[in-house]
Amino acid sequence: MSPRRIVVTGAASGIGAEVARRFLDAGDEVVSLDVKDPEVPVTRHLHCDLSDVASIDQAVAALDGGFDALCNVAGVPGTAPAELVLTVNLLGLRHLTESLVERINPGGAVVNVASIAGYNWPARLEQLRALLATDTVDEGLAWFAANPQDGNAYNFSKEALIVYTMLMGPVFFENGVRMNAVCPGPVETPILGDFEESMGKENLDALAAFLGRHATPADVAGPVTFLAGPGSAWVNGHALVVDGGVSGAVLTGMIPAPEI
Ligand SMILES: NC(=O)c1ccc[n+]([C@@H]2O[C@H](COP(=O)([O-])OP(=O)(O)OC[C@H]3O[C@@H](n4cnc5c(N)ncnc54)[C@H](O)[C@@H]3O)[C@@H](O)[C@H]2O)c1
Repeated sequence: MSPRRIVVTGAASGIGAEVARRFLDAGDEVVSLDVKDPEVPVTRHLHCDLSDVASIDQAVAALDGGFDALCNVAGVPGTAPAELVLTVNLLGLRHLTESLVERINPGGAVVNVASIAGYNWPARLEQLRALLATDTVDEGLAWFAANPQDGNAYNFSKEALIVYTMLMGPVFFENGVRMNAVCPGPVETPILGDFEESMGKENLDALAAFLGRHATPADVAGPVTFLAGPGSAWVNGHALVVDGGVSGAVLTGMIPAPEI
């Protein structure tokens, strides 16, 4: 089998680095898009700032040929300014995805890394659909400025990413491309401290106490590569919770929902 060609954002750190490593170990080619240089020996790295449309367009123009998967892993935590959070985690991701999707081969896939912080998306589906009805990054930011949202922009950005995945999975599937998301709970990566600050360390510690530990990047990278590959060929528009069982425990009333 010839090597697959995979684009990974966020490959310079944490979950994205582990995702890139797994594809490389399987003999695939990995093109990294990140603001930082990756330490993993990727096939090719392109500087790409997901908060900057021109930078995304430049990276896309520098990519050649077709691809088998796009893994949108890059993201910023809720300690960053709200507009930056929404741009990197949703609007820039959407711009990149829609610029590249026609070059993803039939049978290929897009995998978005969302979060269990987006679990409450049904409560504001109407607003999320209104945001997603915008076409560009600038229009999305204008909508966000005109429609202030309760709570942290990080949660809102991940709710929007889950809904985007569900809405666009069937649309991309018309050309044979699936799109799914994974929703991790807390993961031991360099931004965990930021999440402790924005979501409350006591809340995250309570989850680790319930499960015995936080996730590792490897715990999340496996589901990402699964959703990017042929083993998940009939999974589409799905947000896969990867949280060690916390969501199930909350939904069944075993533990209270953490106030993140
Ligand atoms: N760590 C957690 O607890 C956790 C939990 C749930 C979801 N997530 C999500 O997982 C994803 C990966 O996070 P991580 O924990 O590996 O964090 P990380 O900080 O280790 O990695 C994030 C990567 O995104 C890149 N990045 C940041 N801003 C960028 C920009 N403007 N343009 C391009 N690249 C940019 C960084 O350079 C870095 O390589 C994020 O989307 C995050 O929201 C993380």
